[in-house]
Amino acid sequence: MVDSETIKNAGFSIDIDLVKKFEVREDDIFLITYPKSGTTWMKEIVPLVLNGGDVAAVNALPPDVRAPYLEFVLSAEDPILKELLTNFGVPGGFDIDTQQSPRVIVSHLRDDFLPTQFAEKRPKVIYVARNPKDVAVSTFHFVQKELPAINKKAYDGFSDFLPDFMNARNGIHTVVYDGSTWPSHVLTWWKRRHEPNVCFVTFEDMKKDLPGNIRIISEFLGVKLSDDVIQRIAEHCSFDKMKQNPVSLKSDYCVNVLKVDPSLESPFVRKGQVGGWKSVFSEADNETFDKMYREWMKDSDFEPQFEL
Ligand code: A3P
Repeated sequence: MVDSETIKNAGFSIDIDLVKKFEVREDDIFLITYPKSGTTWMKEIVPLVLNGGDVAAVNALPPDVRAPYLEFVLSAEDPILKELLTNFGVPGGFDIDTQQSPRVIVSHLRDDFLPTQFAEKRPKVIYVARNPKDVAVSTFHFVQKELPAINKKAYDGFSDFLPDFMNARNGIHTVVYDGSTWPSHVLTWWKRRHEPNVCFVTFEDMKKDLPGNIRIISEFLGVKLSDDVIQRIAEHCSFDKMKQNPVSLKSDYCVNVLKVDPSLESPFVRKGQVGGWKSVFSEADNETFDKMYREWMKDSDFEPQFEL
């Protein structure tokens, strides 16, 4: 637990007090992920499941309006967050409290930072987990672009970055909150995966069988979809389609903040592989990581898939 009421990151502060007091509705749908685990992908899928596969309607709204980040919109007074939200296409004065039900709400917060009303209202939670080595690599790519954008020094290389990732320290990323390590996030939700309001899926399973996982999500949300509609959603949410979709790429953020060409370098839809870590981790990185990983996993039966 963190004692203070704010979490400070590389660039901004999250007001945990406001998050804790947030009024949850029983029909809210929360998408909870450790950063770089498939949030953007799920933000695309869930609104399409809810609207029966209406691609045009989904494309008409930025991902961060159809599925806003709880902790960002509640802390929008922070100047860096204000700028970030503008570049995410979220209008000034956006009020999550007055959005229509069912709201789709995203969070990277660890379980113990989530709204107090979670226990009583039991909103639906879709949790996406991804193997931590690919998460580390994906985070590294994001951080290398994001740190200079907020006037911080980039890392010297992946090996320099990895210890900070494993220990979740030094504000490595705007959304890896200090102290929120991969196991503190993922393993909590793994333990809760059988609760009726929780649907736990993995990035790797989505890669193996996207239509099958869209079916799991639609059944969890109580939405009946034909095979044709499931196929249409899977097609729209395929890596190649999302890679060509400026809305999914969060182009304004890429151009204005990260200063990269979204079609080439959007960190939200980058490579989308399972096992890409193998060409990035050195032997020494792998040894260091595996040693800590064994500690993380010693009391858990979760088995992330490091390759397909
Ligand atoms: P990589 O950086 O490994 O390519 P998040 O949205 O949580 O920030 O996660 C981003 C990661 O999800 C990126 O991983 C991105 O490429 C991947 N991703 C986004 N859309 C995807 C899709 N349709 N298929 C596969 N991977 C996808």
